[in-house]
Amino acid sequence: MLAAATATAAGDREAGKVKFNTCIGCHGIAGYSNVYPNYHVPRLGGQHAEYIAAALKAYQSGERKHGSMSGNSVLSEEDMQDIAAYIAGFRSITVELPITGNPEAGKKKAESCAGCHGEDGNSEDHAYPRLAGQYEDYLIKALKDYKSGMRANPVMSGFAAGLSEQDMADVAAYYASQRRGLTIVKD
Ligand code: HEC
Ligand code: HEC
Repeated sequence: MLAAATATAAGDREAGKVKFNTCIGCHGIAGYSNVYPNYHVPRLGGQHAEYIAAALKAYQSGERKHGSMSGNSVLSEEDMQDIAAYIAGFRSITVELPITGNPEAGKKKAESCAGCHGEDGNSEDHAYPRLAGQYEDYLIKALKDYKSGMRANPVMSGFAAGLSEQDMADVAAYYASQRRGLTIVKD
């Protein structure tokens, strides 16, 4: 566990910053939305590097399908590691969005998720993405994609299968409302 946590940043952050230029148009704009369907482009700043690299590989292999991200994942292993190292170290500019679901109900329902994602959505194990402070509508979209099979991840498909639409809305509200995570207020 400790080894996984300390073995981050195989990539070169400075090189990653330059390579991230092509991504800024969507991921560097606070509150930017994907249009069809409409949900916020996920926050990346502060996400675990290992998960970022895994996510880019999933788009590349087609395990995850998304028009813009399939094109943007045409990267070498080195590019992915550099970009992941850069992303893990930057902080997203925060736009405070109103939470639309019920975080209290979500907190109870998220108890079964804590073993991997951490009690408040900040996993210590870097294989598991941070959920704390992620956009509420993106979290719902991700859970729906696991349930429908659009996102073919064997672990999460199993967990999402047991969630109703209401459960998804509640847990998304809970994680999105956590302030120690991807949402770090700008310096
Ligand atoms: C045209 C807009 C656009 C551009 C440009 C773009 N992305 Fe994305 N990105 C998205 C959207 C929308 C999603 C969510 C897609 C989904 O639902 O799977 C996403 C998802 C991701 C994810 C997964 C996040 C998570 O929490 O699972 C990563 C990592 C990522 N992008 C990295 C990048 C990198 C690196 C680049 C540049 C090389 C880039 N993106 C360029 C729109 C974009
Ligand atoms: C056994 C460990 C485990 C448990 C328990 C677990 N997850 Fe996950 N979760 C993962 C892994 C691994 C991923 C990354 C999968 C991938 O690459 O798509 C993930 C990804 C996610 C994502 C996508 C994040 C993003 O940025 O796209 C969401 C949302 C999520 N989990 C929510 C939940 C919820 C809600 C629960 C409880 C109902 C839960 N998870 C339980 C392991 C787990």
